[in-house]
Amino acid sequence: MAKQEPSSAPVTREQLVAGLQADLAREYKAIIQYVIFSQKLDTARFQNIASELEKHAHEELDHALAIARQIDYFGAYPVHVPATVEVSEENENMLWADLHAEDDTIDNYRQRIKQAEELGEYALAEVLQELIKQEQDHQIDLASALGVVPNPKMRKEKGPKKGK
Ligand SMILES: [Fe+2]
Ligand SMILES: [Fe+2]
Repeated sequence: MAKQEPSSAPVTREQLVAGLQADLAREYKAIIQYVIFSQKLDTARFQNIASELEKHAHEELDHALAIARQIDYFGAYPVHVPATVEVSEENENMLWADLHAEDDTIDNYRQRIKQAEELGEYALAEVLQELIKQEQDHQIDLASALGVVPNPKMRKEKGPKKGK
């Protein structure tokens, strides 16, 4: 995902909306991965996390709806293509794919909250605060299942490279 260059130029509403569109594409990706992985995880070993992932799928759908509503509020048409979905047959790799996706989503929502506040879009900032809280809960669930630290800045293990 392209990161916004740090710059002193004030953010525009167009940039904010473009960011929300990318956020929506990431939510679609999350729904798809959680739908698949909740069924494909070896439930003998990962019983608890598999049912957690099913809950995540529902929550990601709520997030997608919330973001689409905000995009509509700005008069834009919500995107319909998910961000690149990562699949794996291997239990740990599935969990890492989800964890990395949550790390990325949280980074982006932090940035989006700053942009929304900068533009005085406080209702949007509040909606995003709710989402980021749930994404952090997802991050904790996945990291606990993998036995690693949830906060990526404090996490020593990096997991497999993308696409494995
Ligand atoms: Fe989400
Ligand atoms: Fe999530």
